[in-house]
Amino acid sequence: MSISFKDKVAIVTGAGGGLGREYALELARRGARVVVNDLGGSRDGTGHSDMALQVVEEIEKAGGEAVSNGASVTEYDQMEKMVADAKQKWGGVHILINNAGVLRDKTFAKMEPEDFEFVVKVHLLGSAYASKACWETMREQSYGRILMTASSTGLFGNFGQANYGAAKLGLVGLAKTLQLEGAKYNIKVNSLAPVAGTRMTEDLFPEEAFKLFDPVNVVPAALYLVSEDAPSNAIVGAGAGGYHSAWVEMNEAVWLPEGERTVEGFAANWAKISEESNLHAPQSGAEQSGAILQAMQKVTGTGPSGTRG
Ligand code: NAI
Repeated sequence: MSISFKDKVAIVTGAGGGLGREYALELARRGARVVVNDLGGSRDGTGHSDMALQVVEEIEKAGGEAVSNGASVTEYDQMEKMVADAKQKWGGVHILINNAGVLRDKTFAKMEPEDFEFVVKVHLLGSAYASKACWETMREQSYGRILMTASSTGLFGNFGQANYGAAKLGLVGLAKTLQLEGAKYNIKVNSLAPVAGTRMTEDLFPEEAFKLFDPVNVVPAALYLVSEDAPSNAIVGAGAGGYHSAWVEMNEAVWLPEGERTVEGFAANWAKISEESNLHAPQSGAEQSGAILQAMQKVTGTGPSGTRG
């Protein structure tokens, strides 16, 4: 069964090159009308150019429909204008791929507060602003698909990327709450951790790996996650042709009787508390509290209100 994006309006931020460009081209090939957003700066976010315009020309040459937008995702009013313009031209906005990003890698010891702030601003605030600018429209339409671009750095950490990792895991937290708030309006929100040979990774990957991790291989995951039948709340990893899921999980809570709730009691139980077994991924923050209380019930036989379980 082929997956179509006909009659859908999509915004892809940072789509002037790299992964975003591939998403925009394929969305347009499959019938979407695409807003190609890109400030067109360098890898560290300085400067600007007409990168977005070039991608629009490519889409149009291939018979697709697109408009360019050179706004920075860090400017909320410009994100609102981008959405308003798309609505005026095409009547709605159905898909948002938050992809724009910058790098300012340094060890934490050498990282200046401005480098931290800037990277968090582009990735985390930029994605929050673009999502917020689309949110009301998506609610009104009872249709929305939002993809956050996370990273293995956010999920698992990476040397020299404290600013980037903080922003990227922040995006997963944003996705997890938006998918809850959007559920009743048919707004689905997912996170993608790509691995791709782009200008962002050109001096980080060995030459062979750079070729192997062709960004086109990330496109199937990204487009599925913003398609009509997309799941919600997924965290997906994609690169080179390999695809996986990731979860934020917890083990079973260990219930300590009152007399053992001391620092020493916690230390004595640490092996059990930190055991990587019986893991499950709560679907909301409230489920974590529920799971803690279940542990109490298991030990004491009483529920939260003191009633027998
Ligand atoms: P890229 O540097 O080719 O693409 C990022 C694009 O975002 C650039 O075209 C840039 O001009 C644009 N951009 C930067 N600041 C902007 C702003 N304020 N407003 C609008 N556009 C802005 O790099 P790549 O690899 O394609 O990255 C795409 C996304 O994937 C980024 O969020 C990146 O962090 C993420 N990612 C990439 C990985 C990889 O292996 N290439 C790994 C993990 C995550």
